[in-house]
Amino acid sequence: MPVRLIDLPRITDPRGNLSVVEQYRNVPFKIERTFLMYDVPGGVSRGGHAYKRSQEFIIALSGSFDIVTDDGENKQTFHLNRSYYGLYVPNGIWRHMENFSTNSLALVLSSTHFDESDYLYDYDEFKKWLNQQPAGVLDTILTIDAPDGQLMAGSFSSSNLEQTSFFDLPRIQFREGNITPIENNKTVPFDIQRVFYIYDIPGGESRGAHAHKTCHQLIIAVSGSFDVLLDDGIHQKTVTLNRPYQGLYVPPGIWSQEIGFSSGGVCLVLTSHLFDESDYIRNYEDYLNQLVDLKGKSSVETLKKHSGKTEKPVEQSLDKFPRAQQPLLYGEVFEQNTGIPFYNLKQLTDQHSAEIHQAVSRVIDSGWFLLGKEVKRFEAHYAKYIGTDHCIGVANGLDALKLILRAYKELGQLCDGDEIIVPANTYIATILAITENNLTPVLVEPDMQTLQIDDSLIECAITPKTKAILIVHLYGKNAYTEKIGTVCRKYTLKLIEDNAQAAGCCYLPNQRTGSLGDAAGHSFYPTKNLGALGDGGAVTTDDPELAKTVRAIANYGSSQKYIFPYQGVNSRLDEIHAAVLDVKLSYLDEENKKRLEIARYYCEHIHHPAIVIPGKTIRTDHVYHLFPILASHRDALQKYLADHGVQTQIHYPIPPHQQACFKCWNQQRYPITEYIHQQELSLPMSPVLRTDDLDRIITLLNTWKL
Ligand SMILES: Cc1ncc(COP(=O)(O)O)c(C=O)c1O
Repeated sequence: MPVRLIDLPRITDPRGNLSVVEQYRNVPFKIERTFLMYDVPGGVSRGGHAYKRSQEFIIALSGSFDIVTDDGENKQTFHLNRSYYGLYVPNGIWRHMENFSTNSLALVLSSTHFDESDYLYDYDEFKKWLNQQPAGVLDTILTIDAPDGQLMAGSFSSSNLEQTSFFDLPRIQFREGNITPIENNKTVPFDIQRVFYIYDIPGGESRGAHAHKTCHQLIIAVSGSFDVLLDDGIHQKTVTLNRPYQGLYVPPGIWSQEIGFSSGGVCLVLTSHLFDESDYIRNYEDYLNQLVDLKGKSSVETLKKHSGKTEKPVEQSLDKFPRAQQPLLYGEVFEQNTGIPFYNLKQLTDQHSAEIHQAVSRVIDSGWFLLGKEVKRFEAHYAKYIGTDHCIGVANGLDALKLILRAYKELGQLCDGDEIIVPANTYIATILAITENNLTPVLVEPDMQTLQIDDSLIECAITPKTKAILIVHLYGKNAYTEKIGTVCRKYTLKLIEDNAQAAGCCYLPNQRTGSLGDAAGHSFYPTKNLGALGDGGAVTTDDPELAKTVRAIANYGSSQKYIFPYQGVNSRLDEIHAAVLDVKLSYLDEENKKRLEIARYYCEHIHHPAIVIPGKTIRTDHVYHLFPILASHRDALQKYLADHGVQTQIHYPIPPHQQACFKCWNQQRYPITEYIHQQELSLPMSPVLRTDDLDRIITLLNTWKL
């Protein structure tokens, strides 16, 4: 095979792209030696040489450089500047490297161990040697068939952390750049068959989180830095990699994960086997089970008892994150910089700081603070966004719901004592809106999978007094079902939506929650998906009469100055909040998408037998206001996470029917609701949650010992 560029697999991934070189598969030789060239000054030209026997494959892992090849007759120049191809240079070819860009990084795979006698350093000597070679002999050397048995044996072998090692690799320093050679069974305790590397890694990303059954690995941060979390099922330790001449040896049977990549980081992994998916254990629970199978439960338990020997348990490595405060009550804002907050409101607001300041200044400069053009503009934009004819800005989400019911009463469509069906598993505001209006809430149990009202139980809760169903899109998940629509039509019931937690959520691709029923209440409480700088709310509806009545009641009962057809209230959305909400509305879909990605990540990576993710299937139309998990030892889990700097919340600790303010229900049982309230724990969820924080949370969850 002549000198030629070879394309490599390029596995694209938002967490960094990955390319791989496997011996005999991507390159036509067995990999005996690997070396790295780094710290090469920009513009440098490195001296040339040829090998008598050795073949090479050269990749620009970072930056760019040229390789000039010469077969004794013709010269060719190859410009290498991408990680996903490389130049194959057979033996008997003179080559030199030049024109290095600053920060360039070359990876060279070689078919032989280092052997001084294999080098031809002098061009004339090279030509002489070439002329001595019988015709065709070079080609013969190249056609070596791949031996069998390169893939995994497949059986699980376990290791402990003492068998991992972090060590300095050789570093040969030259003025033209330094070199680190890595030779099979000399520098590393195995034969390298595969080399892969991850690049284009966004800063802060994480990779890995798996164990190998039989494969050995050497991990190197060839550029930038990252941490590797190591876990042998009993002990954990964290190793920081940030030098191209330091390597971390990870034997099979160790769970590992790379986290906290610096921007521009490149992770190089040399492995003892070709790729085989069956060699991976990607589920932490499976990993632990296989350890127990291998070592026996008792030895795992014994090892656990001696865990004092651990070099650096995760607890210590997390010490740089100060302990979280005690769990906070709903709505309390977590102090900044104290671990991983449940929700980082400041950071989220800071993202749009310039536009928010501009909007606030505009209102201040206008001298008009209530019922002005900011509210009008936001109402128009929000109505369009939700897909309704009308939007009325009000003071908060509770008022929005109260005003809908009150307006229906004023319009003669509801009367004192009418029954409203409502989920038993909701925030108390939903129920207060009903009782405040002298209407009767009829609680219906949720479904264990969706945690939303169980639509199969609604019909049997209907009585002649039932006038409406108030569904709650709790946790940012749609609660509406076709069945609910059918029941409403069958019994001529109003359908009201509590959309406080679900701004942007969809039922159908173009049908947002908040537009599915007769009217909906929305909350713009600061931590909601669409949050104001204080309280705020809105009513959306297609019903012009209802809209007009809500607007009047919210303004002391007046739609005409000093004329009061209703005994109204004061519930208005301030101009400042409307101006800010209008800015934030333009980012809502983008931020909801980030929530979705976080939810997806949690779902894919949380594996613990005592933790349940209800309705685990990710719905792209949900907006994940919260990410609830269920755990039988919820309080212990919350304390454990808090002790490790992760703040969580409970939504909610006591269900409405067990609250002191609803004594009439205290003796009633809603077992599913109670079960959820006993087990629910909301994990940190916010569009600004970083991947390394997410990985930390997941690692803590997966390694939680009951
Ligand atoms: C489901 C639900 N409904 C209604 C409300 C009331 O919204 P607000 O806090 O804006 O009054 C909330 C607030 O958290 C809520 O979660």
